Amino acid sequence: MSLSLIGRSISESMTLKLNEIAAILSAKGEPLIHLGGGEPRSKTPIDAINSTAGLLNSGEIRYTPVDGMPEMKQAIIRYTEEFYDRKVEPENVITSSGAKQAIMVALQAILDPQDEVIFPSPYWVSYPEMAKLCGAIPVPVFPEDGTFYPRIQDIEQNVTTYTKAVIINTPNNPSGALYSEEFISDIVQLCEKQGLYLIMDDIYHRLIFDGKKQINCYKYAKDLTENCKIIVTNSVSKQYAMTGFRIGWAIANKKLIEVMTNIQGHQTAGPAGLLQKAAIGAINGIQSSVESLRLTLENNRRVMLEQLNAFDGVKVTKPDGTFYVFADFSIYGKDSAKMSKFLLDKVRVLTMPGVEFGLDGYLRLSTCGSIKDIVEGIERMKWALDPNSPNELFIGERKLVRDWV
Ligand SMILES: Cc1ncc(COP(=O)(O)O)c(C=O)c1O
Repeated sequence: MSLSLIGRSISESMTLKLNEIAAILSAKGEPLIHLGGGEPRSKTPIDAINSTAGLLNSGEIRYTPVDGMPEMKQAIIRYTEEFYDRKVEPENVITSSGAKQAIMVALQAILDPQDEVIFPSPYWVSYPEMAKLCGAIPVPVFPEDGTFYPRIQDIEQNVTTYTKAVIINTPNNPSGALYSEEFISDIVQLCEKQGLYLIMDDIYHRLIFDGKKQINCYKYAKDLTENCKIIVTNSVSKQYAMTGFRIGWAIANKKLIEVMTNIQGHQTAGPAGLLQKAAIGAINGIQSSVESLRLTLENNRRVMLEQLNAFDGVKVTKPDGTFYVFADFSIYGKDSAKMSKFLLDKVRVLTMPGVEFGLDGYLRLSTCGSIKDIVEGIERMKWALDPNSPNELFIGERKLVRDWV
């Protein structure tokens, strides 16, 4: 069969694939514990539901402007003012089908084949594949000091004449690391100096712990005119637990938004109006669900860290935000995909292999589930991996016997 070079170069999204496997196993009644999830379990905010219901009941659900309903853009403009202290105009905003599409159309609008896109490692699984979809080259940068916190020199050393953009995601999926103010200030200045686009993927910016706060990238930009090359992306997926609604957005200069809109117009003609209505409801509605989610996640992180700290040989860096813990399990094996499969097969615990995020030997564990899931999930993992574990484990009525070393 003849398939395109680009098509063949793109790998399956492992996170989505494992979610699918989890759904199948759960439907079969398997006692699965899902520690792989990238979505909060809380309910959709009531304001989102009410806002959608009005349009749904009207029975008149039509195309919307490609770059989003005017009301949606107003909600994003207000959001940007509140969280970034920046006043933008409707022409600076595009609404897309999730932050995923917002980032994708931004990359399609700025990248030529062979261009390079830099992002710190560990990184969100989709960045390399998105760059490749544009025929461009992903350049993951590993902090030389071995931490999850990149330094400006790590990025600087990788800038070449082909570099077109840098993507920064803080707090970070999968590490939960919140990059320092100094780093954000430096990266904004570096990108300005080198004429690079800076994509700030701020999707977790309201899910930060320990009283820390997101750093506002615009604060350090010297050029806030229509030549500004900062692109801020976000969505309702994580903060409002609305992953299934698929609504995200980008803020950028007007020319770039125009080009992104042209591209999106031929892809999806814009996100569904009904779902935009829901997002408008969530963004303009009562915000208590976001803080309540943040507090739950902070507590879940505490429990997860307690469990992992009692796990011999596992090394953990305390996350500053998000709902992930990216733990070093290399003492139990360097091949994280193999380890993840082993844990799913043997004890029905779903984890995300670190190799998908750029670091083998690590597993990404999610704190989105219940405390019971976190405690029991880590107990099962410990039983499966630690050779000093007792020979048997009961999962409900089911007796498991260790037949491996
Ligand atoms: C870092 C990061 N960026 C973007 C996305 C995309 O989010 P969505 O398309 O659901 O808005 C995700 C989802 O997992 C993510 O973790």
